[in-house]
Amino acid sequence: MSVTVRVPAKVNVQLAVGPLRPDGFHDLANVFLAVGLYDVVTVTAADELRVTCSGPDADKVPLDPSNLAARAALALAARHGREANVHIHIEKDIPVAGGMAGGSADGAAALVACDELWGTGASREELLEICAELGSDVPFSLVGGAALGRGRGELLTPVETGGSFWWVFAVADGGLSTPAVYGECDRLRGDAFVPAPDPSPELMEALRTGDAVALAGAVANDLQAAAVSLRPSLAETLTAGTEAGALAAMVSGSGPTTAFLVSDEAEAEKVAEALRASGTCRAVRVAAGPVPGATVTVG
Ligand code: C5P
Repeated sequence: MSVTVRVPAKVNVQLAVGPLRPDGFHDLANVFLAVGLYDVVTVTAADELRVTCSGPDADKVPLDPSNLAARAALALAARHGREANVHIHIEKDIPVAGGMAGGSADGAAALVACDELWGTGASREELLEICAELGSDVPFSLVGGAALGRGRGELLTPVETGGSFWWVFAVADGGLSTPAVYGECDRLRGDAFVPAPDPSPELMEALRTGDAVALAGAVANDLQAAAVSLRPSLAETLTAGTEAGALAAMVSGSGPTTAFLVSDEAEAEKVAEALRASGTCRAVRVAAGPVPGATVTVG
């Protein structure tokens, strides 16, 4: 018996980063949008916990117990007094270590899949609690859509959206470590005063009305300068997308994937083609959001 869950990637339309907290995290105003690039996670009853992965970048995915999907299965099993004896297979399509919550997505998907396979019947609240223990971005992978994340990003409130937004994603060579990017952000800030992070009212209004041009004027990522500092070649990718006519060009989360907001699907294909031709990235993907979070497809 097996259960399959499809789970989307995310882009942060606003990532406002507050001061470093004593616990090593940063308070955020993090506006997530789930976009239609998916990993598919299948769990099957087995003799022991095992993780496998397929897809073009499968070799970059850790298959040891540090994998968030394995950690999700272990966390749910521990809470319900059972063994986590499952084979977890990940069909990987979300860029690995790319700032699109690929690992978090697999964690949320494995949690939902194991809950279904084992008939645990965990409440939504319990699932969200486990997600928050696994990582700051994991709760959003569960809920999907559009949401504001406060705290370290795990305290979610849904955000109203008035339509679909089209994006082009330029996948860079190699990944960036999230802690390294936050560390670089702190280093670049030095002793400068850092205000408490707040969601932008203009951005919320643009999401509510489905206005891509207004959204383009309001997107902001406080981690962008740090990601570009660690990976200066990202500046060329951002310029290539802007020159191709994107409404907005930004680093996705902690990078190194770059995200380009466009007005519609036809424009997305045009910008995607220009980015492919620019030779400034490894791969280019087109996706729209919001889309739902982790969803059981085969039970
Ligand atoms: O929560 P997660 O495990 O994804 O976080 C990975 C790392 O990213 C943390 O150890 C921390 O260095 C950094 N981080 C942060 N502030 C946040 C979220 C993550 O500094 N709000």
